[in-house]
Order: sequence, then C-alpha cells, then structure tokens
Amino acid sequence: MSPPRGTVLSNVNTRQKPSPNGLFLLHDYMDKFVIRGGKPLKGRIEISGAKNSALPCLAATLLTPETVTLHNVPYVKDLITQRRLLEDLGATVLTPELRTHKVTAKNIQTYEAPYELVKTMRASVLALGPLLSRFGKAKVSLPGGCAIGTRPIDLHLKAFEKLGAEVSLESGDVVATAPKGRLVGADVQFEKVTVTGTENVMMAAVLAAGKTTIRNAAREPEIEDLADLLIKMGARLTGAGTDTIEIEGVEGLGGAEHSIIPDRIETGTFIVAAAITGGELEVSKCEPEHIAAVIEQLERVGVEIEQLDESTLKVRQGGDGLKASDVTTEPHPLFPTDMQAQYMALMTQAEGTSTITETIFENRFMHASELIRMGADIAISGNQAVVRGPSKLTGARVIASDLRASASLVLAGLCASGETTIDRVYHIDRGYETIVRKFKSVGADIERLTEHGAGGRET
Ligand code: UD1
Repeated sequence: MSPPRGTVLSNVNTRQKPSPNGLFLLHDYMDKFVIRGGKPLKGRIEISGAKNSALPCLAATLLTPETVTLHNVPYVKDLITQRRLLEDLGATVLTPELRTHKVTAKNIQTYEAPYELVKTMRASVLALGPLLSRFGKAKVSLPGGCAIGTRPIDLHLKAFEKLGAEVSLESGDVVATAPKGRLVGADVQFEKVTVTGTENVMMAAVLAAGKTTIRNAAREPEIEDLADLLIKMGARLTGAGTDTIEIEGVEGLGGAEHSIIPDRIETGTFIVAAAITGGELEVSKCEPEHIAAVIEQLERVGVEIEQLDESTLKVRQGGDGLKASDVTTEPHPLFPTDMQAQYMALMTQAEGTSTITETIFENRFMHASELIRMGADIAISGNQAVVRGPSKLTGARVIASDLRASASLVLAGLCASGETTIDRVYHIDRGYETIVRKFKSVGADIERLTEHGAGGRET
C-alpha cells in the first residue's frame, strides 16, 4: 500500500506502517505543525479513549491465554508501540475495527521488552508485572532519563521483591524472576504515590499465591479502569480508586471484553483550547467526574463550564475574562501534572500573577522557555513558575519537548497572532489522537507539514 498523497517519506526514522484498515498516523520525526492563531474555536469535539488507561489494559492481556477484547483504544503512537510489544512477545493482536483490539497471549515466546521499545515508550515497563505474574520471569530494559526528569522505577522493583521476586540489573536490563515460579502475596507500602507502579503491582499480584495489600496506592481513574478489566478477567480485587487496594491471588485469569474510559487530559486540553481562543466548544464523550479538580480550577480563573449531559460539557471564556490563580500539581484527585503545561499557556492570557508549583516531576517546565519566546512573561525558580499576564503572544518557531509541553505550545499558537511553527510534534502523536483533524473541525487554522514542507495528512 502506498502512503497518503502529500506525504514525503524521507530517510529519517519514520517507522510508518499502515494500520489494518489502511489508515495512517503520520509520526515522521521531522513533522511540524503550522498554526495561524487568533481564531476562536467553535463546535463539537469527541474525546478519545484514555492513552494512560489503554496502556496498562493492553499489558494486562498478557495475564491470560484467552482473548481479551478492548474497545475505545485511542489510535495514538504509544498504543501502536504497546501493540508491537505484545506482538513481539508472541501475542496475536487483531483489530477488527480501528479502536478495538482483540489480544490473545496464548503463545508467549519471549519475556523481554527490548531497549528499542522501552526507550521510545517508558510505559513498556508495564509488561513486567503481568509477565512476572503469569510466567515467573520478565526482562525489561531499564528506562533511561526522559525529558521530564529521571523517572526511576525503583518503587516498582522494590514492590516486586516484596512479592518474592528476585530482581537484578544486567547490562541495562531489569531481570525479575519468581524463584518458585509464582509470586507470593504481601503487604506493599509505596513510599510515594506512583501510577504505573500501582498498576504493575496490581497485575503482579492478581496471580500471586495469597493476599496482597497495596498501601498509598495511586487513585487515578486509570487505576480503576485497569481494576475493572482485571475483575472482568476473574481477578479478586477491591479498593481501586482508594489508597488501599486488596488483591486475593487466583490460579488463572480468563478472557474479557472492556471499553477504555475517556481521556481526561485530552478533555482538559480542549477545555483550555475553548477558553484560550475565546471560543465555545462542546466537549463530548468525556467523563467530567474524572477531571473535577481541573474543572474547579478553570472555573476559578473565569472559564464557564456547563454540563449538558453526563458526558458532554459546554465551555467558553466567561464575560469578565481570565483571572490569574495559583495551582499546585498533586496526585489524583487533585490537579494533575499532565495539565500543568496547558494551564501555564492559559495563565499567560489571565489578568494578574499566578504561581504554578510542580510537585510530581522535576524538570517539567520545558514549555516555559518556548512560551517566553512567543511573548509570555514567565519566571522559573526551582519547581515554581511565576506567570504574569496577560501577554500578547505572537507566532514563533518553537520546539515540542514532551507530550503535554507540545499541547501547551499548540494552545499558545492557537491564541497567538501570526504563524507558529512547532517542531518535533512526534511527541504529541504519542498521546493525542488525530489532533490536527480535531482542531481543524472546530475552526482552527492548523496543518501538519512533513520534513520537506509538503502538506502531510492526518487520517
Ligand atoms: C503516569 C502517567 C503520566 C503522569 C504520571 C503522574 C502513564 C503511562 N503515565 O506516569 O502521564 O504524568 O503518572 O500522574 O500512566 N517515582 C519514583 N520511583 C518509581 C516510580 C515513580 O521515584 O519507581 C516518582 C516519579 O519520578 C515521579 C513520581 O514518583 O516523581 C510519580 O511518578 P508516577 O506516578 O510513577 O508516574 P508514571 O506512572 O511514570
């Protein structure tokens, strides 16, 4: 099959593959977005499935030889990578519809997630828990530093040791084995709240002998979604969504069918998009309860958010404009770190001074220097950013440094005057489904360009 017209496949690392139904997602390393800002967005946006839920749910399919069917899996680069990991391990993945994956992990042939995959997607470490749990062995390359800090997995590994695993580091790989072939339930107390750590231990414990209690567990909606799937597969698990999760290990798990929850960070990003452009959006197929803290904070700064029905929000900037307000990122149910960059872009347009404190990740202010190049007044000191607004943003050439930083630059570009070019948008392709198409559908002037400037296409 030939690529879509207008796509330049150069010798850069494209790894571009058609999906089973012939659609393409462009994630050429050199792709750029060009945005001509200043247009208020108007219309209706549908929210996709949550990347951060689909990733652990796909990993959970490794826990059973039977078929697990997942619906509402977002068509984003990280999920393509996760699917490749499952296939490399020996699982069969069928995609009868674009967002449905039927995974059968019956003939697993290797227990290893190689460096090539882990380096592009840290969430590959989610293979550790299920492989160790079902087969008693797993080898996953240790993720290195990443753009938003060092991001160790020491807490995952300590917890596996608590469950009886022997863990060693060999040539950059984490090698974990259950000495008697099966993990043993235990009391796991996390020193720090960790989302993927909690998920990995949940998946490790469901097939362990006896009872596991996870204390100081993460409470994110994605944890509850994974728990729902595990329970459908036959796991005996209670307490997901609270800080204490109890799991009674079972001998084996079976197949299940499950639909992934809506992406709360995509929802928050589009709410900010409506507000920052002075537009009006209906954000549909979302789960407002999952972003209660974000909605509360955005209402505080002057965004009008009306709930039309259980999964639709109507959003616009209030008549009095935007007012600055401080925010601190915290584990769920408080304000999420994954909305910090987008909130910073919004605060550049608010009257007054806001202090944004990042408590989850070090080095997660890389978007600030790019926003400053567009005219924002932001001062960084340690884990705090002080934003003075409003600033008139003007289009500039900027570089995306990580997934959510990219989103904040798109938002800034949408409200800036003139043309903004964002380089390295492969970061945004990791987690936002057809973002160009979605923004265009509500009136944004945004396009994707390939390396040589030919118009690319997002399908
Ligand atoms: C997940 C999300 C990510 C989100 C983050 C925080 C996925 C795939 N990713 O990442 O989008 O930004 O939660 O909500 O779901 N830590 C350790 N040792 C560990 C594990 C974590 O020190 O073993 C630290 C981290 O460096 C960080 C904090 O704990 O400072 C929280 O990280 P964690 O919740 O684990 O983030 P992820 O699960 O990687």
